Amino acid sequence: MKIDLVTIFPGILEGPFKESMIKRAIDQGLVEISLVDLRDYTHDRHHQVDDTPYGGGKGMILKPEPLFEAVEDLKAKTNEEHPWVILLTPQGERLNQQLAHDLSCKKHLILICGRYEGVDERVRTALVDQEISIGDYVLTGGELASAVLVDAVVRLLPGFLAEEASVNESFTEPLLEHPHYTRPPVYRGMEVPPVLMSGNHAEIARWRREQSVRRTYERRPDLLDTSILMPEDEIILNNIKKKES
Ligand code: ADE
Repeated sequence: MKIDLVTIFPGILEGPFKESMIKRAIDQGLVEISLVDLRDYTHDRHHQVDDTPYGGGKGMILKPEPLFEAVEDLKAKTNEEHPWVILLTPQGERLNQQLAHDLSCKKHLILICGRYEGVDERVRTALVDQEISIGDYVLTGGELASAVLVDAVVRLLPGFLAEEASVNESFTEPLLEHPHYTRPPVYRGMEVPPVLMSGNHAEIARWRREQSVRRTYERRPDLLDTSILMPEDEIILNNIKKKES
């Protein structure tokens, strides 16, 4: 996969891809990530990328010309038939695991990091394939949002994670994850549930499933509304509800 990030602040994005798992994915050749400085696509002495809004009002708007030129240049340089152009904006479709999965199947993403005042509307209508928000809050710009999106997508690329890990986790499963423990068995008086140290794998699996259902019911009941539970889960859930009443 190839990912281009178009930004006026490439410095913000230098850190996140230089460490840990994303760096390893780059080193392994699973993904190529390029930072594209929007100012390189300006033609004036001041490298101006934004301007005041028509009709008045405060804030600056990202100009269309550098964005169109940058995206067109990136498209001209790629072998991909249809690179997918995304604008990070709080007005976009909300990022979730399904969307991250859909994007992980694309071969070339071009991410435009907006600034919070906005981008010229012609960029949205004629250049962008999809607008994405990472949540219902407003950041100063799309850079951190695009780093979140890249992280969520790259870890789903084939070869990145052991199969087990990506399949069993929260949000791939409709349920939240069960609690995890590691050594020591007692820490400051807090004990690891004995079942986890019993060596009985069937019991451990049952305990974990019950914890997952319980956690989802307590923290994210909305996920239970939309998920198709297994018959055993329904029984667990009914028991939890019975104990409550
Ligand atoms: N830019 C500013 N806020 C954002 C958000 N919540 N998601 C994506 N891009 C943004």
